[in-house]
Amino acid sequence: PTEISRVRNISKVEFGRYVLFPWYFSPYPEEFSQEDCMFICEFCLGYYADMKSFSRHRHKCTLQHPPGNEIYRDDFVSFFEIDGRRQRTWCRNLCLLCKMFLDHKTLYYDVDPFLFYVMTTRDEKGCHLVGFFSKEKESADGYNVACILTLPQYQRKGYGRLLIQFSYELSKIEGKLGSPEKPLSDLGLLSYRQYWLENIVDYLLSEHDKGEKVTIEGIATHLAMTTQDVEHTLQALKMQVYHKGEHKIVIPDRLVQQREKAKLKLRRLIDPAKIQWKPPT
Ligand code: COA
Ligand code: NA
Repeated sequence: PTEISRVRNISKVEFGRYVLFPWYFSPYPEEFSQEDCMFICEFCLGYYADMKSFSRHRHKCTLQHPPGNEIYRDDFVSFFEIDGRRQRTWCRNLCLLCKMFLDHKTLYYDVDPFLFYVMTTRDEKGCHLVGFFSKEKESADGYNVACILTLPQYQRKGYGRLLIQFSYELSKIEGKLGSPEKPLSDLGLLSYRQYWLENIVDYLLSEHDKGEKVTIEGIATHLAMTTQDVEHTLQALKMQVYHKGEHKIVIPDRLVQQREKAKLKLRRLIDPAKIQWKPPT
């Protein structure tokens, strides 16, 4: 089907201490497109067309973190789980915000079937939204992520990697293999490919050091990735070879060197032991 994209309607957004410049159309009420700037409350995600009504709101708004349970906390970030059915307005507002930076996905007005996993940083003022992913409560296709977003002011700093890791950690707890909903955006694809590459190569290197043999199924189970995503990654990186009648997985030298170099950069990870979460029943 042909995709029809509507022209960007919001030019500028004040959000907490940041100014955002939207990339795409988002279905905020018509009258907002006439404003030079709109204001979004960084805690309740309510939107306002002028400074005056926004200030009035800020005096009344008591929210200091996303309206759900904090299911993860380390010294860097927190994650909250929010039920679309219980927090309909907040989740719809999150989708409207997300849509400004995501072109191709249907915006879900019907947020009831989704859970939202929201990542924040903390300071004395509260928990500040950095990014999130949504996840269907029941996914017939086995998707573990529907939409994923790092707000533009936080992009290219490793937060997307944390969001993706978190989604796979939840799948590990569920005992399922997961994959993000297709199609992925260009940025989504770049981030997932990088995540898959890093995690598969690191796992293979550690198994190799232990003298263990691996299979595609073994990699998939260990990383809670689908065998299809594992196989595609191995193929794309030319890591599968057929040698003396046997299929083998090899790690090209350039990848080993790339991983060694990357590991010199201090990079944050989710500590699975700190996740306080049971699969919703
Ligand atoms: N150019 C090249 N590589 C990129 C990239 C870009 N703009 N953005 C991410 N990557 C790759 C890199 O390999 C990066 O690792 P590196 O920085 O060590 O090289 C890796 O992905 C992880 O990047 P990270 O900084 O953790 O990701 P992020 O916080 O910027 O978030 C998205 C990634 C996809 C969530 C973010 O770009 C986004 O919100 N985009 C808009 C919404 C969207 O398209 N969502 C996905 C579809 S549902
Ligand atoms: Na959406």
